[in-house]
Amino acid sequence: MEKLIGNKRLKTAVFISGKGTNLLSLIKFSNTKKSPIKIDCVITDTSKAQGLKISKKYNIKSKIINYKKRNLAEKKILYFLNKNQIYFICLAGFMRVLTRNFINNYKGIILNIHPSLLPKYKGLNTHKRAIENNEKFSGCTVHFVNSKIDSGKIILQKKVKIAKKDNPETLSKKVLKQEHILYPKAINKILFNL
Ligand code: GRF
Repeated sequence: MEKLIGNKRLKTAVFISGKGTNLLSLIKFSNTKKSPIKIDCVITDTSKAQGLKISKKYNIKSKIINYKKRNLAEKKILYFLNKNQIYFICLAGFMRVLTRNFINNYKGIILNIHPSLLPKYKGLNTHKRAIENNEKFSGCTVHFVNSKIDSGKIILQKKVKIAKKDNPETLSKKVLKQEHILYPKAINKILFNL
């Protein structure tokens, strides 16, 4: 890891499919003096990702990948990442599962943020399921990515209390607020041992 960083900040790609609020928090983090990463590009599987407006605003290049054929899509992404010497990937609401082949062929680090206290509630609709199960707490997790969905080694988690009146939307807002703090913290933890 040390070798990858050297004196330079790690060139990072953020993968998104939606709003990009985590993307925004990562950009803000990467623009701080002490950040170990530099957001070089944004990769998305859809031109409809609202987060593309954010990358544009901050002059970060973006690449829209046609995902009709997953293997081809992943090949294109790997080529793009290699060409741009990207050694760090932050998945931030990217709605595609990366294959084992992609993960094995990518030489850098891949992280993901998930809106639950893993290993609970892997996959989609985490807030709805947590509320339906009368959980007292939900939260978010940043973890390394392996080829099983939401299953890689956990780096950091943050608990969020579920209020009686919470619905999936209100809970999602509360958790997202914490996600924006947790992702940069997790990056510092693995790259600086903070
Ligand atoms: C977040 O809740 C993240 O945990 C999940 O997808 C959502 C993305 O939100 N993986 P945003 O696009 O960053 O606003």
